[in-house]
This record gives sequence, C-alpha cells and structure tokens, in this order.
Amino acid sequence: MTVRLTILIALLMVLGAVVVNACKKSGGENTNQPDAISFTVPPGFPPPQYTFAGNPLTQQGFDLGKKLFYDGRLSKDGNFPCASCHQQFAAFATYDHTLSHGFNNQFTLRNAPGIFNMAWQQQFHWDGGIVNLEVQPLAPITAPNEMAEDIGNVINKLKQDGAYKQMFKAAFGDETINSQRMLLALTQFVASMVSANSKYDKVKRGESSFKPDEENGYAIFKAKCAACHAEPLFTDNSFRNTGLPVDPTINDFGRMRITHKKEDSLKFKVPSLRNVYLTFPYGHDGRFLSISQVLEHYNSGVQNSATVDPLVKNRIPLSNVEVYYLQQFLRTLTDSTLLKDPRFAPPGQ
Ligand code: HEC
Ligand code: HEC
Repeated sequence: MTVRLTILIALLMVLGAVVVNACKKSGGENTNQPDAISFTVPPGFPPPQYTFAGNPLTQQGFDLGKKLFYDGRLSKDGNFPCASCHQQFAAFATYDHTLSHGFNNQFTLRNAPGIFNMAWQQQFHWDGGIVNLEVQPLAPITAPNEMAEDIGNVINKLKQDGAYKQMFKAAFGDETINSQRMLLALTQFVASMVSANSKYDKVKRGESSFKPDEENGYAIFKAKCAACHAEPLFTDNSFRNTGLPVDPTINDFGRMRITHKKEDSLKFKVPSLRNVYLTFPYGHDGRFLSISQVLEHYNSGVQNSATVDPLVKNRIPLSNVEVYYLQQFLRTLTDSTLLKDPRFAPPGQ
C-alpha cells in the first residue's frame, strides 16, 4: 500500500515537472526576451551607485559576463583571464601575491583588490583613476603588464566562437559581438558580486551574536578605524594617506597620478575590510604580509608628511590585547557565502 502510494506520488511529481517545463518552454519561444534578474540591496546598505540603468541585469547577460570573466582569450597569450588575478576563494583578490603578475610574467604596479560590492563604488583602482565600472575592464585588457591585448583582437577572437554568437544573441537580441556589449555583460557579472553575509552581517540582522572578544574588537574598531573604514561597506570611498613610506622601486604617489595635485600625494583609496582575512598581502603594493603588520604600522610606523591624514598623524596607539580583539572582530567579516557562491564559481565547478 505504502509502496503504491509512493509510486503514485512520484508519478504525480514527474507529471507536474513536465507540465511546468512545458509552460516555461512555450513562454520562452513566444518572447525571446532575456530573463530579468533583480539586484537586491542588502538590509542596512546604502543605495548603490551602479543601478544597471541602460544595462538591465538579465540571466543571459550575467552568464555571458561570467564566461568572459573566466576566458583567457581576453588576454594576448590566452593565459590571463580576469579570474587569473581575481580568484573567488580569495574574495576575488590574488591569493598570496604582493603585486599581481600578468603577461610575460611582468608585475603590476599594485596589489589586486578583492572584487565585491563594486556597485557601491564610483571610483575604481587604488587611485580612483577609473570612474565608470562599465569601462573598467578596458584597463586590464589593454595594460601591457596585465592582459596585454587589443580590444579589436579580443572581439575578433570572440567572433570565431559560435557559442559566443548564441550567448550575445540571448543576452542582447542579436548575434552582434562588439566591445560595448562585452563591457556591459562583464559589468553585469562583476556588479552582481555582493558580500553581505558574513558573521558581522548576521549579527546586524539579529541572526547571530558576537563572542565577547569579537564584541570588544568591534568597540575598538568603531573608536579607532570606522572613520575611514566606514560600515557597512567598511570603506568611506575616500582617498587617504596613512603614512606609508614610498617604495623607491615603485615610486607610486597614488591619487596624485590622476589629479596632478600636490595635496593628493600618497593618497590611496580606503579599501573595504570585508573578507580582509582572505585578501592578504595588504596595502596598495602588498607590502604587509599580515593583519598584525598592518596594525603595527598604525601603532608605530606612520610616517609624517604634508598629506598624512589627521586621523593617523599621531599614530593609532594599539596595545597587544587591543590588536588581538581587533583581529577577532576582523575575522567576522569573512563571507563564505560569496566564496562558495556557485553563480560566481569557475565554470565546471
Ligand atoms: C594581471 C592581473 C589582473 C588581471 C588579469 C585583471 N585585474 Fe582587475 N585589478 C588588478 C589590479 C592590480 C587592480 C588594482 C589596479 C590599481 O589600483 O591600479 C585591479 C582592479 C580591478 C577592479 C577595481 C577594484 C577596486 O576596488 O577599485 C575591478 C572591478 C577589476 N580589477 C576587474 C577586473 C576585470 C573585469 C578583469 C578582466 C577584464 C580584470 N580585473 C583583470 C589586477 C588584474
Ligand atoms: C585615515 C583613515 C584610516 C584609518 C583611521 C584607518 N585606516 Fe586602514 N586603511 C586606510 C587606507 C587609505 C588604507 C590603504 C593604505 C595604502 O595601501 O596606501 C588602509 C588599509 C588598511 C588595511 C589593509 C587592507 C587591504 O586590503 O590592503 C587594513 C587591514 C586596515 N587598513 C585596517 C585598519 C584598522 C584595523 C584600523 C583601526 C585600527 C584602520 N585601518 C584605520 C585608511 C584608514
């Protein structure tokens, strides 16, 4: 009796699935429109800067963006897709590299930042030299020490591939493959990377609570760090000089490279501290190998100069126990949901 009942239920379920699929199929054939997906602003987050205006987020656009992000053909020798420097398990930073390396084993000037919550930024790269997320990929694709490729060549390579023709059509309505569409699709993928499910977020949503050490660290953080690493994004998106001595082999003066103003000398973008335990090494040139080295810099290494930030000018005194508590708090910013999210995972994983 029970066996028959189970079979009956199973049969009904299969039948149900067939009916649902049939409906989906006929819907798809009638419209041919890409499927819109919504971008959810996590609770407590401000309104995003990037709103997908003029670039509606769709499943097909996202899928195309993902294929492009993982495709070595965007680079000259095929070896340097975006994902070679932006690895999911490292919150889309480069794991364990001070400066990332690209074409011909050349080093980049800077340490690759983690990529997440980009939709809340308006100025990209450590010096804010890029002000539009949609054109950002042009920089790494064409940089001789990154992907070292010419956009025209990239587009020609994509045109050789029938799978791309189908995907551009599914995303944008016809088979035209051009750089504008490529950039829009990459942006759909990159802007969708949101980090908002760390323990910190769960505590904020009332779903978890801090241990006493984490709570102590949070209090110290709010008092000594949050003015620049502002919640909930853990950056206020400003450019600051935290008193790092210039590395004479690189001579990177940060924001001044872009504005050519003396008052911007040695200023770098305040990085988000979300997932900071995964994005080592630290600092714009990856000079710090651990969080404790960064904290020791604030405690004793701040070098005075005309543009050093008033908040760190007189250093940020931190006792050993405060360092310990701060580290416990910073660990709560790791978001394993982002690191394991199959939507962003390398194809085939
Ligand atoms: C060779 C390594 C490398 C490759 C390949 C690479 N990037 Fe990057 N990426 C970096 C580095 C280094 C930076 C920081 C650049 C700077 O500050 O001057 C960066 C910065 C970024 C940023 C801005 C992050 C921020 O917080 O401002 C985004 C977005 C980004 N990359 C996306 C991409 C995309 C999309 C691709 C592929 C088209 C790509 N990257 C390819 C190394 C790389
Ligand atoms: C005056 C603003 C300011 C204050 C205050 C400040 N930071 Fe920073 N922080 C920055 C900037 C700017 C950088 C990037 C520095 C660079 O590479 O040139 C940075 C970098 C970092 C990094 C490296 C992150 C990475 O991905 O490379 C960590 C970790 C960090 N800060 C933690 C803290 C902690 C903890 C405190 C409080 C004790 C703190 N910061 C206080 C502005 C600030």
